Amino acid sequence: MEDKNLLACANKAKEKAYAPYSGFRVGAALLTREGEVFSGCNVENSSYGLTNCAERTAVFSAVAAGYRDFLALAVTSDSVGFTFPCGACRQVLIEFNPDMKIIMGNINDEYIVERAGDLLPHSFDKESLGKGRLGKNV
Ligand code: THU
Repeated sequence: MEDKNLLACANKAKEKAYAPYSGFRVGAALLTREGEVFSGCNVENSSYGLTNCAERTAVFSAVAAGYRDFLALAVTSDSVGFTFPCGACRQVLIEFNPDMKIIMGNINDEYIVERAGDLLPHSFDKESLGKGRLGKNV
């Protein structure tokens, strides 16, 4: 699938955003190796810290449906600036594939592309856990 088509899916997902507190709508679309597309939007809460970002909504939906091999994620908002994933979402994205293409769009349907791992250098990942483990009882 072409970047601009995945971005179009993210734009459509943005329409579902539940953002009564920030008014900042975000949409994401995640492409699996099997060719499935999972959409996500931000879901806010009156207890602000419980808000779930669009990217994580998409990833969690895909995992819950049995998919774990992700090739690309597009994310966009109503902003004229490109929509970059927040730190928490970057961490969730690299868990599944640091080489995943991240397509970051804006309100004018322009976009830039980066690899997930490049957005989160020196990350804490599976290997970090293995090296730091003291024993099976901790
Ligand atoms: N938001 C996302 O959905 N994704 C991001 O990567 C950044 C922020 C949402 C969370 C909140 O609902 C709104 O944007 C403002 O922070």
